[in-house]
Amino acid sequence: MSEESEKVVAVILVGGPTKGTRFRPLSLNVAKPLFPLAGQPMVQHPILACKKIENLAHIYLIGFYEDREFALYTSALSNELKVPVRYLKEDKPHGSAGGLYQFRDLILEEDPTDIIVLNCDVCCSFPLTDMLAFHRKCGGMGTILVKKVSPEVASEFGELVADSDSGELLHYAEKPETFVSDLINCGVYIFSPEIFIAIQDVKSARHDRAVLRRLTSFEALQSATKTLSADFIRLDQDILTPLAGKKKLYAYETQDFWEQIKVPGISLRCSALYLGQYRTTSPHLLAKSDSKGAIVSGDVYIHPSAKTHPSAKIGPNVSISANARIGPGVRLIGCIILDDVEIEENAVVMNAIIGWKSSLGRWARVQGGGDYTTKLGITILGEGVSVEDEVVVINCIVLSHKTLNRSVHEEIIL
Ligand code: GDD
Repeated sequence: MSEESEKVVAVILVGGPTKGTRFRPLSLNVAKPLFPLAGQPMVQHPILACKKIENLAHIYLIGFYEDREFALYTSALSNELKVPVRYLKEDKPHGSAGGLYQFRDLILEEDPTDIIVLNCDVCCSFPLTDMLAFHRKCGGMGTILVKKVSPEVASEFGELVADSDSGELLHYAEKPETFVSDLINCGVYIFSPEIFIAIQDVKSARHDRAVLRRLTSFEALQSATKTLSADFIRLDQDILTPLAGKKKLYAYETQDFWEQIKVPGISLRCSALYLGQYRTTSPHLLAKSDSKGAIVSGDVYIHPSAKTHPSAKIGPNVSISANARIGPGVRLIGCIILDDVEIEENAVVMNAIIGWKSSLGRWARVQGGGDYTTKLGITILGEGVSVEDEVVVINCIVLSHKTLNRSVHEEIIL
């Protein structure tokens, strides 16, 4: 087959509202995949990486959010990118491989040679072009993006062993209790259409086992609660683990940045990583100091509709969304300011996320210690929070529509 006819389809697994609960309070207002990192929805970063692939025929987002959550977004993006972007809703969670399988007919409609499958909740440089070339060279059923991490954190992910010469996946263990390897699964895959046969095989084996169990009623009583339904299939445990060591899967290692986005705090770090990436990929998105707006230092994104006073100082690692108003003398460092926020004169925001339509009074101070991995390591204000003049808020999570008229430290305010 010539390169020109080698069509590629991309699928982004967006999960659903129940999967986003650890992302509260930010997921109370917007579906987690649409939360902005460096000024663009989380899911847009992988989408833009897919767009760079030659012969990309379609981008599908698969999840179990309501259709309306993605309708406007996907239609606007399809027009902008000139590639069809479509949201496909599962009636219930089918697991990462099960979700993919539900829509196999649509995915295979254009007869793609390669299917890119991406977890929505990872932040990385998505080196898809190089990974695709590697995948085609290896000729396997699938290629997994992998990365070395410190042994202390490896057990939070899928750990794997790969052949150092060929890259063949030799062993795979999902979040193992005992250490296997410091090489982890990054949640970025390229598969050949054969993947659907592998998923079908797991489904059939489950179905056969269920029939057998029905025949032995004692065992059925014992294991009824442990059994997974035949159509709930996970890419990692159910597909990668059994296929490892069978010359079907290969690992492609990235040396670049990679993070998993499960808790809100990490979104500050990911926003900073994407802002840093703009220096090479999209320098036009980075703000510069000019006579009309604030003094900018380091990587900063400012939405064109936001207003920043020339005496405010912003950066590094700041992202400001639509219609925000930043007053005179304000200082912003390492933060995400969401739509319609108003920050009055001389207020300071550091290591914090300021929710939609919130307001900070004069000389107010909202900050976090900066440890993204702990629950109160950064400060998060939900939607419509009002921090009154001179109030100091440190290492707190504040739910929507609260008014803070006293200073608070290390509190969750419900
Ligand atoms: N459509 C759909 N339907 N998507 C789903 C479903 C489902 O039923 N269940 C999970 N997902 C999506 C999630 O939104 C996420 O993008 C991805 O699939 C993986 O989610 P989980 O299955 O919850 O796994 P995880 O995030 O804890 O770990 C996986 O990703 C890590 C990398 O971030 C594993 O594959 C690990 O091995 C891997 O290291």
